Amino acid sequence: MPARNRKPSIDPNRLPRHIGIIMDGNGRWATRRGMDRNQGHRAGSKAVRKVVRTCRRLGVSYLTMFAFSAQNWGRPESEIRALMELLGEFIVKEWQEIMDRDIRVVHLGDLKKVPVAVRRQLQELVAATRKNRSMTLALALSYGAREEILRTVRLLAGRVAKGKLNPADIDIDKFSGQLYTGKMPDPDLIIRTGGETRISNFLLWQSAYAEYHFSEKLWPDFSSQDLLGAIAEYQNRRRRFGLTDEQIDHRQAPEES
Ligand code: IPE
Ligand code: IPE
Ligand code: MG
Repeated sequence: MPARNRKPSIDPNRLPRHIGIIMDGNGRWATRRGMDRNQGHRAGSKAVRKVVRTCRRLGVSYLTMFAFSAQNWGRPESEIRALMELLGEFIVKEWQEIMDRDIRVVHLGDLKKVPVAVRRQLQELVAATRKNRSMTLALALSYGAREEILRTVRLLAGRVAKGKLNPADIDIDKFSGQLYTGKMPDPDLIIRTGGETRISNFLLWQSAYAEYHFSEKLWPDFSSQDLLGAIAEYQNRRRRFGLTDEQIDHRQAPEES
């Protein structure tokens, strides 16, 4: 078998605990085939299912999928409608499998802007899966990181104004806890497909120490094999969190008896 087709080897003990994915390239995928952009989104939803299954099988604890940004509300109305319909369809089709695989679904973003029918479906799915424990699937939908940070600032400022919070007590943990991601751990690995090397308003606060993987593949073409490749690459990186190599080596050295 040629090397490029070989399955990347993954160390199950060093999996990223939280993977975030910026699923980009659906429109280009369709346009290149002479199809409507919305057909690209439909093809993209199949890739979502594959990647969710693979993460669950591997034992990844948290998976955040960036499905629709706060800025995507500026797209043509027909595309927004098609995307929302697709989301509703996804919820109906995947409901049973999500339950069977013990996946908890949470939502990140501004639900108020989401059309009421889909909003209800999403809220029902979140409620129904609340007690599932094997993996958390966070859907970032109507999500913008700057908007999320501002919302948190307003929330905390409100408590300060009411005399319920001392500004000196606002630390990183307190701030993080008020974001949509709440108690979720920060992402270890962020993957962006579609060839662009930018963040586009995704998890700005939470990704302070994330490792990035940029793929040229358009989202509908992104396979489980590509995901394994990204994880393998992640496992070859050295995360220092501001420390020196010596400090990291020392920390990882087995305890002396
Ligand atoms: C990503 O694909 C999905 C969403 C942003 C909703 P795009 O729709 O951005 O696809 P391209 O980047 O135009 O190819
Ligand atoms: C990022 O893709 C948002 C999602 C994948 C949901 P965009 O296509 O909106 O990003 P830009 O416009 O190329 O930065
Ligand atoms: Mg795009």
